[in-house]
Amino acid sequence: MTENDFVSPAGTGDLREGAVTWKSPSNIALVKYWGKKENQIPANPSISFTLDHCATTTTLGYAKRKEEQSGEYFSFDLLFEGKPKPEFRSKIIKFFERIEKYMPFLKDYHFSIDTSNSFPHSSGIASSASGMSALALCLMSVEKSLNPEMSDEFFNQKASFLARLGSGSACRSVEGEIVVWGTNDCMLKASDLYGIKFSYELHPVFRNYQDTILLVDKGQKQVSSSVGHNLMHGHPFAERRFKQATENLSDLTTVLQAGDQKAFIAIVESEALTLHAMMMTSLPYFILMKPNTLHIINKIWQFRSETKLHLCFTLDAGANVHLLYPENEKNEVLEFVKNELVAYCENGQYICDQIGLGASLMKN
Ligand code: PMV
Repeated sequence: MTENDFVSPAGTGDLREGAVTWKSPSNIALVKYWGKKENQIPANPSISFTLDHCATTTTLGYAKRKEEQSGEYFSFDLLFEGKPKPEFRSKIIKFFERIEKYMPFLKDYHFSIDTSNSFPHSSGIASSASGMSALALCLMSVEKSLNPEMSDEFFNQKASFLARLGSGSACRSVEGEIVVWGTNDCMLKASDLYGIKFSYELHPVFRNYQDTILLVDKGQKQVSSSVGHNLMHGHPFAERRFKQATENLSDLTTVLQAGDQKAFIAIVESEALTLHAMMMTSLPYFILMKPNTLHIINKIWQFRSETKLHLCFTLDAGANVHLLYPENEKNEVLEFVKNELVAYCENGQYICDQIGLGASLMKN
């Protein structure tokens, strides 16, 4: 597929008004995307677990505008958690501008976007992946009403393609349980334009894998991920890092099929620390981890050496820690969280999640 394959044909349906609701989850990368080329093309391939409980639910109402009104500007209202959210408008306008080429009908409708998250807004959990994928899916439902013969495969591919233009990692939230984004030698169908489902059989130990998210710092990040991605241009270690991510994806592909949890832990933790190492070695340099992030990491290493259980951590672009572990070790790990790790969480807060199956249509 090329970008041109995603330009929608002139719609056949006469669609006046309606509403659609999608729920789309967040995802957590195992091999990280950090660095991009123009038009949200990733500098290296990445792979993620799709989450289950951490999700955004978006209802998109649409009403055809009168002929004389359409065509000049994007017309929409926006509610976040039931209240107007003017700060989000510029993000949506930017998103619409990027995707207009692929959805020429956008200016023909007035949209009401009503969106809410299952996790607290100020939790430090990135809502862009779930938010952008939920909106992209709603827009795809509108497009499908205009072009009803569209296949499910194309629907998902284009939803992921559009979500990517909103926020890169959002393209990995449309489907579950594991999604790969970015061309690579292990998965010939993988693309830089959209995410695809992991195409090999997953070893049973990785089914229902758990992700407990420790909320270490719920404040606004000092450096946004778009700034971080840009700092990979001219970064002294960029080329080696991009090569390493490709190698890690290849190794992880084998590990996920073989059920080798020890190797899984080594790759996933190294990826998390490398992501933050890239931040610490860019110019300007910055640190998103907090002292409690490091306390938690040390506690995990101690716990693992004492118990021989398979608990490991990963990080996204922030201070929060994602604890990854197999379902059959849930009791011991949650006990450990309550007894030893909660003390390092802001207001003692953490979220229990697990691998999920991807987005779902709630109402059409
Ligand atoms: O999708 P963005 O632009 O917010 O970037 C996400 C980057 C990481 O979360 C740090 C890594 C990833 O692959 O999700």
